[in-house]
Amino acid sequence: MVRVHTALVRERGVPNQTITSKITFIGGGQMAEAMIGGLLSGQVCSAESIWATDPVSDRRDRLKSQFGILVGSANREAVAWADVVVLAVKPQTLPAVLSELGPTLAHALVISIAAGVTIRAIAEQIAGTMRVIRAMPNVPALVREGMTALALGSAVSEDDSRLARTVFESVGRVVLVEERLMDAVTGLSGSGPAYIFQAIEALADGGVMMGLPRQTAELLAAQTVLGAARLVLESGVHPAQLKDRVASPGGTTIAGLHQLEQGGFRAALMAAVEAATTRSKELGR
Ligand SMILES: NC(=O)c1ccc[n+]([C@@H]2O[C@H](COP(=O)([O-])OP(=O)(O)OC[C@H]3O[C@@H](n4cnc5c(N)ncnc54)[C@H](OP(=O)(O)O)[C@@H]3O)[C@@H](O)[C@H]2O)c1
Repeated sequence: MVRVHTALVRERGVPNQTITSKITFIGGGQMAEAMIGGLLSGQVCSAESIWATDPVSDRRDRLKSQFGILVGSANREAVAWADVVVLAVKPQTLPAVLSELGPTLAHALVISIAAGVTIRAIAEQIAGTMRVIRAMPNVPALVREGMTALALGSAVSEDDSRLARTVFESVGRVVLVEERLMDAVTGLSGSGPAYIFQAIEALADGGVMMGLPRQTAELLAAQTVLGAARLVLESGVHPAQLKDRVASPGGTTIAGLHQLEQGGFRAALMAAVEAATTRSKELGR
């Protein structure tokens, strides 16, 4: 059985397209570094077609020596050179960057990864053009297992959309959503890695409590989460069915599941997504 999400999410792996456009990253921090690494190792584009700006010279030097890309601190120059501009600064820095760059961005496809900043807010700063894509990646992009949701501005073309998909597929999977759903995306896949880090820590604690060495317990816990997630994605089988298959009558797994039910495990995860979504809405106001 193939479920809906597998139709929405294109398979991870070598992107099916290379990019000839020149890409500038405004902000050369953690997320820009992950994306540049993904683009180059996936051979999506060449180092000469990437420029990253950052005010910190150590960061620029590191990006240059690691990737051989163009670096600098002059945002306007880097924007004028580019076909695509990725705004990869913190949300609180974005207003200053937009007021510096403003209409100089109007010729480019603008992709913002700043959490909570709307397409309209960005477009207003760049002469009203809606050729803006809002992206919400997550931290596993650092190991090319990211999940990115994209919302498209009204002037984004098919080619722009394909290009953005290719960029983010170089660091994981991509789904398109309506912009109004971005807070829910933030509550689920944006904040979700932290929920799972906590789950891995707790599973490992349980293993230690039962006598396993800490390192072994952490490996067992992390690989179990990774394997279960891959099975869900690759089999297309509903997670409840997969759970039923491993819970044999009177066995160990159903005893563990009973404890999870008593602890309100599923309700706690649902409430976590709800709380983070609500907080994202509050912060976006
Ligand atoms: N990391 C994640 O998991 C994640 C997930 C989803 C979305 N995002 C979004 O991705 C964006 C970047 O996050 P990050 O974790 O990569 O942040 P980061 O590591 O702090 O990177 C941002 C970089 O931009 C630099 N910068 C500041 N002002 C600048 C300017 N005027 N021009 C050019 N560069 C400037 C910063 O330098 P200074 O340090 O000197 O300020 C920093 O090196 C954020 O908007 C965040 O919401 C991140």
